[in-house]
Amino acid sequence: MPWTCADIPDQRGRTALITGANSGLGLETARALAQRGARVVLACRSLERAEQARAELQADACGELIPLELDLADLQSVQRGAHQVADQLGRLDLLINNAGVMAPPRQLSAQGHELQFAVNHLGHFALTQQLLPLLEPEGRVVHVSSGAAYFGRIAFDDLQGERRYDAWAAYAQSKLANLITALELQERLEVTGSSVRSIAAHPGLARTNLQPTSVAARGSRLEALAYRLMDPLFQSAAMGALPQLYAATAADAQPNAFYGPGGPGNLKGYPKACRMAPAARDAATRQRLWRVSEELVGNALGS
Ligand SMILES: NC(=O)c1ccc[n+]([C@@H]2O[C@H](COP(=O)([O-])OP(=O)(O)OC[C@H]3O[C@@H](n4cnc5c(N)ncnc54)[C@H](OP(=O)(O)O)[C@@H]3O)[C@@H](O)[C@H]2O)c1
Repeated sequence: MPWTCADIPDQRGRTALITGANSGLGLETARALAQRGARVVLACRSLERAEQARAELQADACGELIPLELDLADLQSVQRGAHQVADQLGRLDLLINNAGVMAPPRQLSAQGHELQFAVNHLGHFALTQQLLPLLEPEGRVVHVSSGAAYFGRIAFDDLQGERRYDAWAAYAQSKLANLITALELQERLEVTGSSVRSIAAHPGLARTNLQPTSVAARGSRLEALAYRLMDPLFQSAAMGALPQLYAATAADAQPNAFYGPGGPGNLKGYPKACRMAPAARDAATRQRLWRVSEELVGNALGS
């Protein structure tokens, strides 16, 4: 039997924080969890967008919806958002690191990091570190990666694309970084005896704002045409959200797995464990990325 939203266990009494909750997969993930009674923190780049998401979801939600400003392109904003959650809620059951940007022309975050590395990886890395104590004892962290992770390489000699920036290579790097963080965090949790689980997921190809935003930023008519031709390969945002919902809520979701759609090429379909990107298994790469990320966040926040 395929796993669907109907299989999400009762979420009453549980609290989830979802980044990028105002659009695409994040919005559908928030909807599904709120329908099952979860209190959902809608963490969005601006309070206005979070309020819009709340207005859109209100009719469907059984659980409380809490708007939160959290701009992943600004580590100070990430820190403020995390403090607010700690002060106001005190605990979390689910952290779903979902927000992302795809292949824009080279831009920098507030702290001067390349935007995809900053939003997709570093902001989520910092957020996870700051919220981890709230997830004890039984919480889960879900890292939304991509099939692009299979093509990724961590360019330690030019992480920020300063010498050479290829927008797609930077996207693949950031999505491999999500997968690496999922595995490395799980290993570190196990070493400390924590029962928090860290699990990776990807949506296959889902119709969201990701592709139109990317096309608009790059102004590429060729890419716009390619997406039109590829449209039959895509599934809805609600279907695309299922693997991350499975990772977040299914009793038998396993850490160290990479959940994605179970159809051909893992592009669409119901959730299933997919092949792990071999580069994510390399222990030296994982430890090095962790160290570098800690340094970058520490330098940016002066800690
Ligand atoms: N759709 C796919 O086919 C696909 C495939 C593989 C992986 N993914 C991954 O799925 C995740 C969700 O993407 P999606 O497809 O749902 O795309 P989407 O509809 O464009 O949603 C992306 C979300 O990320 C948010 N975001 C971007 N920059 C942010 C920032 N600086 N601070 C906070 N939030 C920010 C966006 O906010 P704004 O609305 O304010 O821009 C939006 O809420 C991403 O991590 C993406 O890499 C998607």
